[in-house]
Amino acid sequence: MTQNSTLAVKATGVGKIFPTKAGDVTALTEVELEVGAGEFISLIGPSGCGKSTLLRLIADLDPATSGTLEIFGKPAHKARLDQDYGIAFQQAGLLPWRSVADNIALPLQLHKMAKEEREARVAELAELVGLSDFVDRFPDQLSGGMQQRVAIARALAARPKLLLMDEPFGALDEMTREYLQSELTRIAADTGAAVVFVTHSIPEAVFLSDRVVVMSPRPGRITEVIPIDLGEERDDALRESPAYFERVTAVREALHGTRVERANER
Ligand SMILES: Nc1ncnc2c1ncn2[C@@H]1O[C@H](COP(=O)(O)OP(=O)(O)O)[C@@H](O)[C@H]1O
Ligand SMILES: [Mg+2]
Repeated sequence: MTQNSTLAVKATGVGKIFPTKAGDVTALTEVELEVGAGEFISLIGPSGCGKSTLLRLIADLDPATSGTLEIFGKPAHKARLDQDYGIAFQQAGLLPWRSVADNIALPLQLHKMAKEEREARVAELAELVGLSDFVDRFPDQLSGGMQQRVAIARALAARPKLLLMDEPFGALDEMTREYLQSELTRIAADTGAAVVFVTHSIPEAVFLSDRVVVMSPRPGRITEVIPIDLGEERDDALRESPAYFERVTAVREALHGTRVERANER
């Protein structure tokens, strides 16, 4: 096994140009990114900096214009066919005519998992996201936060070693959002999955991530990668700790491109 195949994501010199009537839009240029197995990475940056585009290239929903993308050492296209990752977007995207259990079961049916095994797996997933009492409900009978939890359970159903999430909590109120952030860190640790998480919330990126990837627009590119190093324990106490505020400040300064050279101040 080569070193690369142990990485969840490896992007080398990735660029994306969208030809439009008004001319070419360089959505991404020269993107270099490595996401380790089990690592939690957030992509953060202002609107239009290419976060969603990068996630879509990783998921092989769009082709890159230049460069290469490998998912667990495979070309992105092969990884998609092998369903090596789960996806959750801002809209939960549940099927309204299917119950919670049947929505979660969808990828397992596509994998042709036998009924008995499937039912056991759905029960396990419902437990994982705290929805055991709601498996018979339909999406329109659930709150937004619960719908997102169903979407996360569905994304995890086939035990992917990589989760791709584009502002999955963007439409939720702050309380629900913080609760689901805690849940997501627990789930990611329990399943050992790597996560690439798109957000424009600085506190959210810091709370969730091992590293925060800061991006900038026109052209979309990575400008800085900030290690978070807050340890394994992600709980509410962390949100009030000085170390947490320090990381929030570091990400904010990187985003504003005004990072102070503190070494020079001393
Ligand atoms: N299908 C498309 N056609 C043309 N331009 C696009 C398309 N998708 C994205 N873009 C452009 O690419 C840039 C990056 O977009 P996007 O990845 O959606 O940014 P973000 O998710 O960071 O807000 C923007 O300038 C956007 O207008
Ligand atoms: Mg986006």
